[in-house]
Amino acid sequence: MKMETKVKTFDCKHFINGEYVASKSGKTFENLNPATEELLGTVCEGGKEEIDRAVNAARKALNGPWKKIKQNERIAILRRIGDIILERKDELARLESLDTGKPYWLASSVDIPRAAYNFHFFADYLRGIGTEAYQMDDEAINYSIRRPVGVVGLINPWNLPLLLLTWKLAPCLAAGNTAVIKPAELTPLTATVLGEICRDAGVPDGVVNIVHGFGPNSAGAALTEHPDVDAISFTGETTTGKVIMASAAKTLKKLSYELGGKNPNIIFADSDLDEVIETTIKSSFINQGEVCLCGSRIYVERPIYDQFLAKFVAKTKELKIGDPFDPQTKIGALISKEHYERVNGYLDLAKEEGGQFLTGGKRPEGLKKGYYLEPTIIVGLDRSCRVVQEEIFGPVVTVIPFDSEEEVIMQANDTHYGLSATIWTNNLRRAHRVAAQIEAGIIWVNTWFLRDLRTPFGGMKQSGIGREGGMHSFEFYSELSNICIKL
Ligand code: NAI
Ligand code: MG
Repeated sequence: MKMETKVKTFDCKHFINGEYVASKSGKTFENLNPATEELLGTVCEGGKEEIDRAVNAARKALNGPWKKIKQNERIAILRRIGDIILERKDELARLESLDTGKPYWLASSVDIPRAAYNFHFFADYLRGIGTEAYQMDDEAINYSIRRPVGVVGLINPWNLPLLLLTWKLAPCLAAGNTAVIKPAELTPLTATVLGEICRDAGVPDGVVNIVHGFGPNSAGAALTEHPDVDAISFTGETTTGKVIMASAAKTLKKLSYELGGKNPNIIFADSDLDEVIETTIKSSFINQGEVCLCGSRIYVERPIYDQFLAKFVAKTKELKIGDPFDPQTKIGALISKEHYERVNGYLDLAKEEGGQFLTGGKRPEGLKKGYYLEPTIIVGLDRSCRVVQEEIFGPVVTVIPFDSEEEVIMQANDTHYGLSATIWTNNLRRAHRVAAQIEAGIIWVNTWFLRDLRTPFGGMKQSGIGREGGMHSFEFYSELSNICIKL
């Protein structure tokens, strides 16, 4: 049976206090399929009014039904959310692919299963966590108790919509908070369905609220300004993070930030070249290069530079671009017209800066509609070029040769970003030595995107504030109180 890839229109409403509701203003905006440029449906545009309703519902639920639920039942609810996501995997993957332009197989094998696992993981993790206790000789004993932070605003980007939303929502709920979610305006579909999934899993009304809308002067800003929101967890662009910090400062909200990256992929001559190529194809171009962890700055040690480029270019040319529902497709469409133009703007800039395109750099032949771009490899650019310095967030990489360890460490760190890095080498000592000197929160050696959800995840420098994952997520989503008892 061929999958239905044309949708009946899917209109997105807000999910507030357990119910799907429209905006009071009646305002809506259009949601497009980036692969066809066709209309997927309309989306209710929320603002101050809807955020206010959602925050009030979240506050009531926090001090009401959600507080009364015992930990075992909370764990069971979280597990059920994960179970329902898996039961509805095909449907969710299809919606995710329609909304983002990413290959269906990718949504179905990564985005959606991982969204389910986020709930299963934090449900299990919750069962095992405790707090500290310190005895002061025979004078006193200290112990701490963990409480939720309160009502938390979760603001999400469009590249991995359900995966990243649930990466926040699962620990947020596990720690006993209630949430107001602002999905990315470009990808409202799976978030909308998640409201129903939470309800079906037994989440009490008001615990999870979803308000659609834009960022500035819209639902996003209303959420960060709201005096009754205790914390904001934000994933998105570094520049947006700066705006949100200023806005959240007025009410001194707790902040967690996962921001942009311009990650180095460092390849030493002693590495296993076939393995390097196989993984580098993914770390460069998966999800159309629209992953914050993509290694878009590739540094190759001089002795294997030519050999690497020959193989890398040949493999890149084999990548099939086009219909996200074709199982052979490796690269789908970029998210939107605006983003497509922005990425193309960087390609023009690369030419001006003297870059040489070894492959890609243009719309694939035969694809007239949709925001398709050939995966692009650029050489000949200096490290100070904007194309090497700024996050492009598309299927575009630069390759630069290097001669020494010191030189490549200096180049890798020569950026405002510090999210992730990959190092390829079979020299054990060098792996440790270089890893410890790279300024990034997540460092992979001889692999990429291998994730254990217990580990700290996040960026340094302008790539983020704080860490998520395992205990780190609980640290953000809970308040600790120390209780000191004189004996
Ligand atoms: P964006 O910053 O434009 O938007 C993200 C979200 O923030 C959207 O929901 C948007 O409506 C909202 N927003 C925008 N302005 C706002 C404001 N003034 N107040 C409140 N909310 C506001 O980011 P985009 O383009 O959606 O996502 C791409 C970016 O996300 C890239 O820079 C990428 O590196 C970063 N990202 C980082 C990840 C990480 O874990 N470090 C993971 C995925 C993406
Ligand atoms: Mg869309």
